[in-house]
Amino acid sequence: MVRTLGAYPSGWRHPGAHKDPQTDAAILREVARLAEDAELDYLFFGDWLATGPDLEFRDPYLLARIDPVSAVLSLAAVTERIGLIATVNSTYADPYATARATASLDLLSGGRAGVNLVTGAEPRAAANHGRDAHADNETRYDRAEEFVRALRLLWESWDADAWVADSASGELIDARGLHPASFAGTQVRVEGPLNVARPPQSHPPIVHAGTSPRSRALAATEADLALIAAGDPAVAAATRAELRALAAAAGRDPDDLKVIVPVLPVVAETDAAARAIVDRLLLLVPIDDGVSSHARRAGFPANRSLASFLDVAGIEPGDGVRAASVDDAVSPSTAARFAEPAARTLETVRARTGRDLGGAHPVTWRHLIAAHAVPANFVVGGPATVADHFELWRDAGAADGFNVLSAFQPAQFEAFTGLAVPELRRRGLIGRTGATLRERLGLAAPRLLRAPEPVASGR
Ligand SMILES: Cc1cc2nc3c(=O)[nH]c(=O)nc-3n(C[C@H](O)[C@H](O)[C@H](O)COP(=O)(O)O)c2cc1C
Repeated sequence: MVRTLGAYPSGWRHPGAHKDPQTDAAILREVARLAEDAELDYLFFGDWLATGPDLEFRDPYLLARIDPVSAVLSLAAVTERIGLIATVNSTYADPYATARATASLDLLSGGRAGVNLVTGAEPRAAANHGRDAHADNETRYDRAEEFVRALRLLWESWDADAWVADSASGELIDARGLHPASFAGTQVRVEGPLNVARPPQSHPPIVHAGTSPRSRALAATEADLALIAAGDPAVAAATRAELRALAAAAGRDPDDLKVIVPVLPVVAETDAAARAIVDRLLLLVPIDDGVSSHARRAGFPANRSLASFLDVAGIEPGDGVRAASVDDAVSPSTAARFAEPAARTLETVRARTGRDLGGAHPVTWRHLIAAHAVPANFVVGGPATVADHFELWRDAGAADGFNVLSAFQPAQFEAFTGLAVPELRRRGLIGRTGATLRERLGLAAPRLLRAPEPVASGR
C-alpha cells in the first residue's frame, strides 16, 4: 500500500526518509523494484480527491501525491511481474474513462492490472468535481453498483476472437464480436463499445474498500478482494466470515473473495531495534510542547497537548502532576491514577518502544501525547515477530492477505522486503506466482456477463 511520504504521519521526518513529492517518480520506482524483487503480489495505490492544510498534521501523505492511475501506468513500464492496483472513486469517476484506463493498464502491463473501487469519504471532493455536495452512503453505493456493471460490460466490448487481422482476406475485425454496453442505470449511462482492446484478464481483479453494510454487500457480490479496516484479529475474522457468507448467498464460491487487511509493520533486525524506530517516530510527532511554533499554525489538531492528554487520563491539571516539560518522565504514582484510555496508551507505548515507568529509559509525556493523538496499529519487531503476526491472523481466519504499509520510505519498505519477507517465505506464507494478477492471487476465471458466442460455421 504505497504512500511515498510514509504511512505514519511523522515518518517523513525520520532521517533519510523521502519527503519531497517533487521526487515521487524516483521513490515510486525504488518501491516498485523492492516489491518486485521480493515477489510481492501487487503494488496498491489509494486515492483521495481533495487536499488542504488540515492534512499536514493528520494525513500528510494525502497532501500532494501522484494520481494513482498515472502511478501504475508509469510503473507498468519498469516492472515485469508484479500486479498494479489503482484506486478509482466511483462517485466521481466516469465509467467509460475508467474502463479505458484500466483496460489500457492491463494491456500495457501484460495482465497485471487491478482496480480498487471506493465510494469516497472526503466531502471536499464534491466541489472539485462540480457537485454541490458529497452524496450520501445509499446514493454512492447505488452508483457504485451501476458503475461496476458498466465497467464489466465495457471490458467485454470485444470478444476474444473479434480481432481477426487477416491480411490475406483484408478482414480486420469480426464486427459481430464488438458489443455495445448499452447500459442505462439511474446514475450511470454509457453506450460503448470500448475503444480499447479486450484486457488480457478480461476483467482485471476488482478490489473494494469500505466499512458500511452497503460496502459489504458490494464487496460480497462484485469484489475479488475486499479491503477491510480491522485492528483486531477477532473483529477481522467476524467481518471475513460475514463477507464469505454474503458471497455464498450471492451464489459465489466464498474462496473467490479474498479478504485483505492493512498492516503497518515497523521492521528491523531485532525487536529492540524496531522498538527504537517506533520510539523515534513518536518523538517526531509534532505536539504542543509549549516551545515549538507548529502548535500555533492553522489546522493544528487540538488533542496534542499535555492538557488534553491529562483530560483523557482523568487527571485535573495541577492535581499532583508537575510536568515542567512534556519531556519529563511520567512517574509510576501518576500513571497508577490514569483512567482506562490513557492506561491503554501507556501500555501500548511500553510494549512498542521498550520504555518503562522510571528507570534509565522512561516513558515521557511526549510519548503518551503522541501515541494518543496519532494512534497506529504498528506491528513492531524483527523478522520472526512480524511473521508471527501474519501467521496468527492467517490461523485466526482473519485475513487472506495483507496490504503492507511502511511508516516511512524507502528504509522501512526495504526492511520489510529484506528482513520480513524471507521469513514469511520460509514459513510458506507468501510465494505464489502467476502470469497475470488474477492467477497470482489464486482467483478463478472472471464471471463474464456476456456468454461467448457459439463459433460461427465457416470461419
Ligand atoms: C482499508 C481501507 C482503505 C481505503 N482506502 C480508500 C482510498 O484510498 N480512497 C478513498 O477515497 N477511500 C478509501 N477508503 C474508504 C472507503 O472506500 C469508503 O469510501 C469510505 O469508508 C466510506 O464508505 P463506507 O461508508 O462504506 O465505509 C478505504 C477504506 C478502507 C476500509
